[in-house]
Amino acid sequence: MNHELKSAFFSFLAAMSLTAAAEKVEIHTPANSLVVDLWKDGEPKFVYYGSRLSAQDLKSLPDPTRENWSHLDLYPAYGANHTQSEVALAMTHADGNMSTSLLVQDFDIKEVSDKAPNGNDRKGTLLTITLKDPVYPTTVHLYYLAYKDVDMIECWSDINNAEKKDVLLTQFYSTCMPIRRGNVWASHFHGSWAAEGQLTEEKLNNGMLVVKNKDGVRNATSDRSEVMFSLDGKGQQNCGDVIGTAVLYSGNYRVAIDTDDSEYHYYFAGINPDNSSYRLRKGETFTTPHVAYTFSREGLSGASRNFHRWGRNYQLRHGDKPRDILLNSWEGVYFDINQKGMDQMMADIASMGGELFVMDDGWFGDKYPRKNDTSSLGDWTVDRTKLPDGIEGLLRDAKKNKVKFGIWIEPEMANTKSELYEKHPDWIIKAPQREPILGRGGSQVVLDLSNPKVQDFVFSIVDDLLTKYPDIAYLKWDANAPVMNHGSQYLTMANQSHLYIEYHRGLQKVCERIRAKYADVVIQACASGGGRATYGLLPYFDEFWVSDDTDALQRIYMQWGTSYFFPAIAMASHISATPNHQTFRTIPLKFRCDVAMSGRLGMEIQPKNMTNEEKALCRKAIADYKSVRHIVQFGDIYRLHSPYEGDNLASLMYVTENKQEAVFYWYKLETFCNQHLPRIKMAGLDPDRLYTVHELNRIDNRPLDCEGKTFTGAYLMQNGIDLPFKHNVDYHKQNDWASRVIWLKAVD
Ligand code: GLA
Repeated sequence: MNHELKSAFFSFLAAMSLTAAAEKVEIHTPANSLVVDLWKDGEPKFVYYGSRLSAQDLKSLPDPTRENWSHLDLYPAYGANHTQSEVALAMTHADGNMSTSLLVQDFDIKEVSDKAPNGNDRKGTLLTITLKDPVYPTTVHLYYLAYKDVDMIECWSDINNAEKKDVLLTQFYSTCMPIRRGNVWASHFHGSWAAEGQLTEEKLNNGMLVVKNKDGVRNATSDRSEVMFSLDGKGQQNCGDVIGTAVLYSGNYRVAIDTDDSEYHYYFAGINPDNSSYRLRKGETFTTPHVAYTFSREGLSGASRNFHRWGRNYQLRHGDKPRDILLNSWEGVYFDINQKGMDQMMADIASMGGELFVMDDGWFGDKYPRKNDTSSLGDWTVDRTKLPDGIEGLLRDAKKNKVKFGIWIEPEMANTKSELYEKHPDWIIKAPQREPILGRGGSQVVLDLSNPKVQDFVFSIVDDLLTKYPDIAYLKWDANAPVMNHGSQYLTMANQSHLYIEYHRGLQKVCERIRAKYADVVIQACASGGGRATYGLLPYFDEFWVSDDTDALQRIYMQWGTSYFFPAIAMASHISATPNHQTFRTIPLKFRCDVAMSGRLGMEIQPKNMTNEEKALCRKAIADYKSVRHIVQFGDIYRLHSPYEGDNLASLMYVTENKQEAVFYWYKLETFCNQHLPRIKMAGLDPDRLYTVHELNRIDNRPLDCEGKTFTGAYLMQNGIDLPFKHNVDYHKQNDWASRVIWLKAVD
């Protein structure tokens, strides 16, 4: 049966009412199928997730019977029969009963066409399964949205309380997915400040693997919610079956892979219920965050390409708009903001070909001017001693220098030394009866976004800036503190455990209001670096700051890990000074440029301190980046050689969807004499087309042997090109670093 016929077959199924006999129900994306098994008054079961099935195979999938399907639960609830392993839902009913049973009542499949979270139009197939407890009036809907044009299925659930009194939800995952055992490896990401997105790879074994976050405010500072499962042995970049998953939420999450004595690992993902039990009022419905799944037969990079394509189209703000090349003032001047200095930086970035200047921290505070990080957050008025002509003056200078202008804010925070805190001490997060715990600068506190008044205030910070100064093109939205002592002065004592969830509902409301009024402004999510690299927020944000660590060597590792789920267009990656301000390593400018050019290129440096030769190199890098920006920012990623292999080499490339152009990156990580590095085979090209090779950011005295030559895509993918392990430069310019950026263009 062809696909059209198959869809018709399933619409017919959907129209049928459920019987006691089991029914296999399939939804699909262009290349993936998900099959579940439903029968009236039975527990919903998982059957299959993987490559798109033919109608024949679908028909021949095992016929579920209750006897041999005691596992494979789609949404196990704590209680009858599910007491020993992880469950998706646990609740205490109004009468104190802790056991729940969820049985299928009905299901529905329909074609939907709506607005995606980033505002773009999307089309998909939505499967809704209705589950009911036979004893209590508890209804759960499971939702599965299969995208029409990208290989992504989003799942979520809602839980409705129709009891006469409140019930208490103590566990409420969005989804459960059984994964067949057999040498399955998980790739997940650990991190901390200045070392975000570090890849961890481990074989799934008996027992439980838990990845979680409890920061409260920023959920990518430490472990990240995204996981890839390589189904046939340790993950490979460009071959092998891979399932990629991400929790699309900005708050505390928990991902647990529970392996019992069955043939399956059980993946659970959703909100972290730790200290977060939720009192569901009579009549209220609790909706869990979405979790996204993709399946690829093209290895880890294949799953990344699926995530990137879906992300750019549906989950990242302005995923189809090229990003500007910018200079950010932070590492250049830190808090030492002044009008003349900003003008000079704008002139410098303009002279190197940059398009945007961003003034970072240090520009605000009236009664308490922001001289360092000990005061002023919350007082978003211009410090006129530093900036006598105000933001008007900065915008005037930006216009004069022909660059756009952006500004830093940290709207969810206050310092105890601020006018805001003096007026509204009750707006901060703190435990009842206790003194506030103070963060950065010994005085930073988090505002309580569960409070609608605080939501209005946070919205007003952006609203005031953008109403008064509509020419502001870019906001850097920072968040430099976690929840340090749990407690809300707004929520009732009975609902203190709602804080983590209500905080993020509040944040989302504010973001929605901002995007409804200011659709175009570019907004960066920053949180002590990469703490907000999360699809939970990217519908409102255009990009995130990968890390406060701008050391090019460490960035190779962090950007490698971050690229598993996030596209280069979202990864802010800046050229900074040497010695590096975080690692104190001295890396030549060429290498720093080559690393920054693999993401959204920018600069984070005081250009005044650069030599003319250095400026010329950056000017060249910026010009070169402009010619490949569309490939980096919109192309398909192929990771080729992992820095984690430990053999001193990292390499990746981006290829345009039509395979017309590609950019190839090659980084040597350490130098030894008599070193033998492998030649890197490329990937993703059209084997039958001819590609011309051109080196970008060239510093060598003579061109590479392959410069200007033409090769078949097949040759480049089967052999690669030989690259010298060091640069051919004058003796006094030699050093122990080497990197290459190569532009490939198909010859028509
Ligand atoms: C955080 C950010 C930095 C910078 C400072 C300003 O650390 O990650 O990029 O904006 O705050 O205080």
